[in-house]
Amino acid sequence: MAKIGIFFGTDTGKTRKIAKLIHQHFDGEAAEPVNINRATIDDLLAYEILILGTPTLGEGQLPGLEAECQSESWAEFADTLAQADLSGKTVALFGLGDQEAYPDNFVSAMGELYDIVADAGATVIGEWPRDGYVFTASAALEDDVFVGLALDQDNQSDLSAGRVESWVKQLKSAIN
Ligand SMILES: Cc1cc2nc3c(=O)[nH]c(=O)nc-3n(C[C@H](O)[C@H](O)[C@H](O)COP(=O)(O)O)c2cc1C
Repeated sequence: MAKIGIFFGTDTGKTRKIAKLIHQHFDGEAAEPVNINRATIDDLLAYEILILGTPTLGEGQLPGLEAECQSESWAEFADTLAQADLSGKTVALFGLGDQEAYPDNFVSAMGELYDIVADAGATVIGEWPRDGYVFTASAALEDDVFVGLALDQDNQSDLSAGRVESWVKQLKSAIN
């Protein structure tokens, strides 16, 4: 079995597309990405290394019915994840957002996911510099760096492939 699990939430499919791109860069080391609305906690716990992706919806919220997402998503899974024991797990996060339309909450949901997995005992890797983005505030910053890969498919889609490639390289050297 592949040693890395990739799970994502999405409303309009952009986060799924990025999850697939990340998967390709792992050359068989990672399992096929799974939408979190189809996953159980045991599906996640089967992996030592998890890559979790989320868009930010509503006002800085995780996707889910309350944020007018078309289906259940991370918001509905959050309590289950919070109650899990993630000690011994390594987690990397990626988040999609729109820095021009939502400059006060850019990729903030990735920060929510970070808080949940860090509190549940996971070691979080894959932080990412904030240079190259223009925004006012984000709940996904810790000590002025993003807690995971920040992507903006609405305004900077031309930069995403390069960002993903260099982030996956960074993850591979942290993991191996
Ligand atoms: C109703 C709505 C609210 C949004 N709120 C935020 C937000 O607070 N912060 C942010 O960075 N992006 C926000 N976005 C932008 C989305 O996160 C972005 O378009 C993302 O790529 C969508 O990914 P998906 O296709 O996987 O759902 C919002 C988008 C919509 C439609």
